[in-house]
Amino acid sequence: MREDGDGPGGARGVGRRQVLGIGGAFGLMAAAGLSASAALARRPPVTGAELRSAVPLPPAFQVPLPVPRVLAPAGTSGGADRYEITQREATLEILPGVRTPMWTYEGTFPGPTIEARRGRPITVRHRNDLPVPTVVHLHGGRTPASSDGYPTDLVLPEGWPGTAHGSGHGSGHGSGHGGHGGHGHAQGSAHGSAHGMSDPRAAPTRLTHEYTFPMEQRPALLWYHDHRMDFTAPAIWRGLAGLQIVRDDAEDALGLPAGPRELPLMIADRAFAADGSLAYPSLDPSLRERPGVREPYLAGVLGDVILVNGAPWPMHEVDAARYRLRVLNASNARHYDLEAVGDDGRRLDLVQIGADQGLLAAPVTHRSLPVAPAERYDVIIDFSAVPVGGRVRVVNRLGSGRTRDVMAFRVARRAADDSRVPRVLSADLPQWRRSDAVRVREFSFRAGRMRGGHGWLIGGLPFDPARSDVTVRLGDVEVWRLVADVHHPVHLHLAGFRVLSRRGGPPLPHDAGLKDTISLRPAESAEIITRFDGYRGRYLFHCHNAEHEDMGMMANLEVI
Ligand code: C2O
Ligand code: CU
Ligand code: CU
Repeated sequence: MREDGDGPGGARGVGRRQVLGIGGAFGLMAAAGLSASAALARRPPVTGAELRSAVPLPPAFQVPLPVPRVLAPAGTSGGADRYEITQREATLEILPGVRTPMWTYEGTFPGPTIEARRGRPITVRHRNDLPVPTVVHLHGGRTPASSDGYPTDLVLPEGWPGTAHGSGHGSGHGSGHGGHGGHGHAQGSAHGSAHGMSDPRAAPTRLTHEYTFPMEQRPALLWYHDHRMDFTAPAIWRGLAGLQIVRDDAEDALGLPAGPRELPLMIADRAFAADGSLAYPSLDPSLRERPGVREPYLAGVLGDVILVNGAPWPMHEVDAARYRLRVLNASNARHYDLEAVGDDGRRLDLVQIGADQGLLAAPVTHRSLPVAPAERYDVIIDFSAVPVGGRVRVVNRLGSGRTRDVMAFRVARRAADDSRVPRVLSADLPQWRRSDAVRVREFSFRAGRMRGGHGWLIGGLPFDPARSDVTVRLGDVEVWRLVADVHHPVHLHLAGFRVLSRRGGPPLPHDAGLKDTISLRPAESAEIITRFDGYRGRYLFHCHNAEHEDMGMMANLEVI
């Protein structure tokens, strides 16, 4: 592994190297209470620190698994389905008997699921009734830039200082007002944070924003979540996350388990304060001004309660049949290595049929399955060999104590099963070869200094919305080499990619298929290949450890 990487942009030369020299692995990791060498020597299974809940926690496998409700369109116009979502505070019962105020989409956590069809566009009109600005990103969506949820394209709540026409946020930096852009809505400088970073291209709106999703993409499990500059991690933690599923006729015709035998599983850890509220170590708990978390949590915030679809360690009754589990790790920082264990201690096969961006070419069987933040895995489990009354626990091999358990299934009855897992799942996976690439770029993902404190940097630099980092040409194939210090789940907006190599060798079995998030493990380097396709405009790539993302580990990706 090279000791230094090129900065965002890859080809910017000497100046960037010098910046990187200043920001290289040392000062920053020391600030997080780790030294680079210690972190690498330990190869820690987690990157982050765990909060302890101050309320009694329920026993595992008691609460039934909820399935998020499917949102009905508010209407249809010109072949597009129109949805409406209000973002608002709601008090939910996440732990039995405990009232937890949350920030929600439509009053639930997870938010309602949107069911979409490939090629049938949808619009979602979001209304922000929360006390702070928000912005929605559809993770995994092939979305025009104006609807991709850029972190400064804020939806300002009623009464928020400034106007959608000027500064989006209190501190009076007026640069970049008005003029250019020509979107249908107001322009302004809306710097997203209290440290005065301004973004001349920000496009804030007041109270509502209508997002357009063409859905010209492979069927896949996507998720929508908040993406506000500097405050994404606490906003997701408070509940701003929901699912969107894209389907098409070809996938429907495969005969995979469906209906009640297809379950979305949004896995997320949380911790609870004594008053029942969600605990989170924000420097500014109002999330209005000062971003960031308290020092012990700079590497990531972990909770001691594992939620699946918003329920703690739930239990789900199943038939003795095949099930399709559509797993999303919506945790801020926690990694999972999932296995399914029967009462006899035997592990059930996890037959992976899909990745972040949809079906694999052919199934891949795992005994355990690592799932990094924001990754999705589409998995078949066959319960037919489990005796009626038997239990199958889903456990996280990286957890300990209570966080080892995730959820459980109880086989309730024998049942007919006409589902199939075809040997060929899809034939439309892109097959880019290294020789197709017009460019190779390299990016380091490392701890560093930012605003005089600890940060997380890409190529030695913290995120700046006003800077141009990487410019790619629409249609170009590129290889990106990504190098990590600690765990960094790296996510690209817009473009799905394939994993070409890890540590100079072949990809791992779970790297199969089309991805939008790759889990870099400590001290690891990996290569991905993609074709920048779909839309021109300003996008992002970033670490999806949400705390790292808020502390600088994000960069601009401009498609021209
Ligand atoms: Cu799921 Cu830019 O994020
Ligand atoms: Cu995304
Ligand atoms: Cu990271």
